[in-house]
Amino acid sequence: MVSQLEFVMIKPDGVKRRLIGEIISRFEKRGLNIIAMKMVRISRETAEKLYEEHKGKSFFEDLISYITSGPVVCMVIEGDEAVSVIRKMIGATDPKEALPGTIRGDFALSKAENVIHASDSPEKAKKEMSLFFEETELQLNTQTV
Ligand code: PPS
Repeated sequence: MVSQLEFVMIKPDGVKRRLIGEIISRFEKRGLNIIAMKMVRISRETAEKLYEEHKGKSFFEDLISYITSGPVVCMVIEGDEAVSVIRKMIGATDPKEALPGTIRGDFALSKAENVIHASDSPEKAKKEMSLFFEETELQLNTQTV
């Protein structure tokens, strides 16, 4: 078993469309552990750090203004191979390519407003969760099932 921590963020369209419960429920039913969670309005500064790898791309400004347009729900999720398991549950970045049964495949059509973000590696997860959570806010070793 390879326990990993993954950073997940329900984007403004997911919050506005009242998908928070549906999304959390999928992760919990899969057997993953939510070990930290908060709703925040991201500042431009934090958004630029979160998406720094895309700086300079044509969609960067649209991405930053969209992600700061309303509240998001940030989570840290723990589980066996959590990064790849969650990335599969979320589906392809372009929801038109995402398979039915995945979160984007079931709830989105637009690459810009695609409901949810998850880090693409354990290293990225560590970096991205540190933008939103102190280490002491992670409820480590509290769930044993
Ligand atoms: S790339 O260039 O292939 O690396 O980019 P991609 O993986 O397709 O997308 C990276 C993230 O940018 C978001 N995105 C957009 N947001 C707003 N407007 C537009 N036009 C847009 N195009 C792409 C996309 O949803 C990805 O967000 P995350 O949160 O990483 O899934």
